[in-house]
Amino acid sequence: MPGDVILCVCGGGSGAHALAGLAVQKGVEVRVLTLFEDEAKKWNRVLQKEELTVIINENNRPPREVKAKPKMVTKDPEEAIPECDVIIFTVPASVHEIYFKAIAKHIGKRTLIVGLPGQAGFEFQCRDILGEKASLISIMSFETLPWECRLREFGKHVEIMGTKMYLSGSLIRGKSVTKPPLMTLQKFLGAQPMLRQSKHFLETIIMCYSFVHPVIFYGKWKDWDGKAVTEAPLFYHGIDEATAELLQKCSDECMAVAAAILEAAPTKANLSDVKDIHHWYMENYKNEITEADNLFHSITTNKAYEGLTHPMTESSVGVAPDFSSKYLTEDIPMGMVVFRGLAEVMEVPVPYTDMVIEWCQEKMGKEYLVGGKLTGKDIQSTRCPQRYGFTTLDAILTGEKST
Ligand code: NAI
Repeated sequence: MPGDVILCVCGGGSGAHALAGLAVQKGVEVRVLTLFEDEAKKWNRVLQKEELTVIINENNRPPREVKAKPKMVTKDPEEAIPECDVIIFTVPASVHEIYFKAIAKHIGKRTLIVGLPGQAGFEFQCRDILGEKASLISIMSFETLPWECRLREFGKHVEIMGTKMYLSGSLIRGKSVTKPPLMTLQKFLGAQPMLRQSKHFLETIIMCYSFVHPVIFYGKWKDWDGKAVTEAPLFYHGIDEATAELLQKCSDECMAVAAAILEAAPTKANLSDVKDIHHWYMENYKNEITEADNLFHSITTNKAYEGLTHPMTESSVGVAPDFSSKYLTEDIPMGMVVFRGLAEVMEVPVPYTDMVIEWCQEKMGKEYLVGGKLTGKDIQSTRCPQRYGFTTLDAILTGEKST
């Protein structure tokens, strides 16, 4: 099947290079659309001389090398998008809006649009910008990238350090027929990660646990005196028990919102698979966790987190927490605030989520939550449902705006 599929990879970073290289190797016609600065020009210059090399590191096997040449690399949506069966966004969520707006009028009604990763609110933004067309196309949103990967040399060389075992994504099937979504994507990626479809798109929004990074920031720096420190503390392995308790409380709030939605719309929003964060850790990191008896140990004995430190800024006197890190700038507006929006619609109080958002927004110099409502001046830069006029559960589920 890949031979008769046209894929457009949107982006020009590490993930876009890895995806483009792997999909070309599977026999797919790959077009790359990158709107950023002169990335398309730079990539084309390289392609004239040599193919893209993807180095794939796999457990217990020597690294593999794949060479690939995408059919087209362009910054022109009119050239890249028409005839595409699948369009995959592989850029940070803060950039999705630029891509949606640029490609909207060129998308065919049988297209599958994929956020890899999508992050919370991907579907709301897609429906808002594409309007009527959003009900025809199919939309998938995955929880993260399939790989840990780094671009070593632009257009030339990307390295995959690790590949996930499983990857969950949600599907909103459009009215028009598309190629079988999950099967098509699986063929682009190969056997691993094994793709799984979640039962409902709200499950992916709730279970991306976007509170994890902000809560760890809060736990570490809430009493910080503002003075530089000598070194970056460990991020996951450096949490204390109080931080683990706060993570649990935020997870409990996610469960409460999921339960309220399930109760209000049992046949329309199957959220029966939404899991508590401790269970999620035990399932997803079962081979990496040494002590899984509670959430604190599941994080602090998780080998996948070894050596990872807080993002810091450097100065002549030491280092300080970097509040402009994507752990906050992505996970608050494209994560916690979106979840907070769902809670507001369901009228479920989420005081711990609020406390963390309020602290983070102050550190980021932003204003989302004001007096317990999502009415802050920066709400337009988030993807909460309210921003798009989805202010009832029905509007959230159907994509038809509340009147
Ligand atoms: P990246 O940081 O390599 O991507 C940067 C690319 O985004 C740029 O090359 C450009 O093409 C695009 N971009 C950035 N600012 C832009 C702007 N203002 N206008 C238009 N385009 C712009 O990101 P990467 O590594 O490819 O990751 C994509 C997503 O996957 C991110 O959300 C990242 O957090 C997530 N992720 C990445 C992992 C990795 O190992 N690389 C692992 C897990 C998740």
